[in-house]
Amino acid sequence: MKCTKIVWLSLCVVLACSRQAGTSVGSCPEVEARVDKLLSQMTLAEKIGQMNQVSAGGDVAHYAEALRKGQIGSILNEVDPDKINEFQRLAVEESRLGIPLLVGRDVIHGFHTIFPIPLGLAATFDPALAEQGARVAAVEATAQGVRWTFSPMLDIARDPRWGRIAEGSGEDPFLDARMAEAMVRGYQGSVLDSTSMAACIKHFVGYGAAEGGRDYNSTYITERELRNVYLPPFEAAVKAGALTLMTSFNDNDGVPSTGNRFILRDILRDEWGFDGMVVTDWNSMGEMISHGFGTDRKDVAEKAANAGVDMDMMTFGFLSHLEELVKGGAVKEKTIDDAVRNILRVKCLLGLFEHPYTDAGAAKAVQYAPDHLAAAQKSAEESAILLKNSGVLPLRDGARILVTGPLADAPHDQLGTWVFDGEKEHSVTPLKALEARFPDRIDYVQGLQYSRQKRERFDDVTAAARRADVVLAFLGEEAILSGEAHSLADLNLKGSQSELLAALKAVGKPVVAVVMAGRPLTIERDLANCDALLYAFHPGTMGGPALAALLSGDVNPSGKAPVTFLRTAGQAPLYYNHHMTGRPYNGETLLDDIGLEAGQTSLGNTSYYLDYGAYPLFPFGFGLSYTSFAYSDLALDKETYGVEDTIRVRFTLSNTGAREGTEVVQLYVRDLVGSVTRPVKELKAFRRETLQAGESRTIELSLPVSELAFYGLDMVKKVEPGDFQLWVAGDSASGEPLSFKVK
Ligand code: NOJ
Repeated sequence: MKCTKIVWLSLCVVLACSRQAGTSVGSCPEVEARVDKLLSQMTLAEKIGQMNQVSAGGDVAHYAEALRKGQIGSILNEVDPDKINEFQRLAVEESRLGIPLLVGRDVIHGFHTIFPIPLGLAATFDPALAEQGARVAAVEATAQGVRWTFSPMLDIARDPRWGRIAEGSGEDPFLDARMAEAMVRGYQGSVLDSTSMAACIKHFVGYGAAEGGRDYNSTYITERELRNVYLPPFEAAVKAGALTLMTSFNDNDGVPSTGNRFILRDILRDEWGFDGMVVTDWNSMGEMISHGFGTDRKDVAEKAANAGVDMDMMTFGFLSHLEELVKGGAVKEKTIDDAVRNILRVKCLLGLFEHPYTDAGAAKAVQYAPDHLAAAQKSAEESAILLKNSGVLPLRDGARILVTGPLADAPHDQLGTWVFDGEKEHSVTPLKALEARFPDRIDYVQGLQYSRQKRERFDDVTAAARRADVVLAFLGEEAILSGEAHSLADLNLKGSQSELLAALKAVGKPVVAVVMAGRPLTIERDLANCDALLYAFHPGTMGGPALAALLSGDVNPSGKAPVTFLRTAGQAPLYYNHHMTGRPYNGETLLDDIGLEAGQTSLGNTSYYLDYGAYPLFPFGFGLSYTSFAYSDLALDKETYGVEDTIRVRFTLSNTGAREGTEVVQLYVRDLVGSVTRPVKELKAFRRETLQAGESRTIELSLPVSELAFYGLDMVKKVEPGDFQLWVAGDSASGEPLSFKVK
């Protein structure tokens, strides 16, 4: 980290530091000196106290004694500013050394003003917007005294059965890394000040690869796959200055992350130079006992400390056993000192020593501020993906509209998973927004009260559909069906939602489905029963106005799939950047082509499912617009590049439709032959381009050849010379490749 400004105020130092790429411990000497001075005054017990985090849950009295004794370094789950101030007062004014608390909270996609779930935000392919959303969250949360968020979640997720796919940026390391950097910048701000909320990049590492998509499950990620796929977003976030990191629940190849020295010390500290703080996930230290990785709390405390954990979230293993472990020599005091330094450094950088308290009276003023709501609405507009449109959207002026479905007026559910502080009273639902946008044109029949409800007949809804010119069916998942520990084996619309849609289609009026969900659901059968489908994920507080703007055509959809949409859950995991098998699918025999009593035959001997083939419903990067785009004149500046060169690709993007629209231009590369097999395509650049109707624009994208580096057979990251292909297109399955060489 690098000091940019140092202001002396009486006895206090106000340190405003910005963290820059490649910075390391000690590069802000004033901070280090202060941390060292404090450390030299601390007893072993006080040091260990800093390494202990507890869930406050409003109970100041319960923790008062521990705070006075310096046994708590951080609290989570307290957002009442008066109580936070009281907790801080006990730590600052009644403990021997007066070290302030770090107050943490899961501020995942907004604090009060709720933004689209992170998977929806990723669909914007708009890091600047993600940064703005994180900034809004930081301004609202820090006003109440929360200075640390357990976000962003950077887990690559390639299995939509995993409920936590909602919390991350999807399946692609490049997109994930760009969103990660943006969110870190947004939470922390470019210069650390009183609105800075420390980011916590999580879950380190591999948690999204849970076997079978069952949460908390084991992972078996090889070191090469870790380095090429799962680690890059974390490395990017570290370089962007993330102040803290959380270990994951899973064991990878038998080693739980909370006891994994290789990832926490060798990679994080030694290779990347991370000088922030490492916290465990909730009781993940204790869970190493259930994993069978330690005998008891003392054993796992030793393993976690030696592996490189600085702070224990809710196991109390450090508090109960570290002193004894240090005295017995199993954990060195230097290990404790390093951990405490990491903790104090974060507190110091956040300015907590100077400003431990929050202005409780002023906190309310910033919540749901108009510009916060506007940013949330813009994010929801950009995050919706138009998956089908046979001309019914945008809605025709003057049409009579039937609004139906369990998500049409569900202020709680549109907020999505991981919402603790956003209030549904502030949600503007699609129904309310459509009524405002189309006064006197809306008829509403709920059809189903909630997404899991079962119903035999829909006579009331179909009767209303007959009276309407167009039907808008708001379907999807309740908020509680995705997120932590909310994995699903069946990804079809729940309850009787598909039957509702089919009944509406049978009426014969145009039907538009809007799906609000925490994951890419398997909607193939529903696509057949609608004329247009807009996939909105859970869009947050301002989901209603955003959807009304999109459906009416006030805003043109521009979201792109941040994850592959499957035809059936049995295809999982299926992702665009897979490796090529020795027997790639080439469209052979499907189930219905097989005769009775067919003799044993190879049926083509390729990699696919007899019943579902090899392809997804929608590929990564896919999304339609109310206009259309064409790519032409694609050309590279050279045929052969050196490893130091930058590839420049030029092309013409044309808006071939009748209205303004935004296209997310995507650049993919394939390394044809490597020392190890390489993905069939990898996203290497993207950019949002807005074009007027009929406009053509020449665009140049550049890609440093160094970006083609990967960990090959010798596990050294480098560019391997050879032949490559490059595509520029509107999704991962389109476009014709150009060829180039690297020498
Ligand atoms: C468990 C979750 O895995 C983690 O993401 C979260 O930040 C902590 N609990 C704290 O609530």
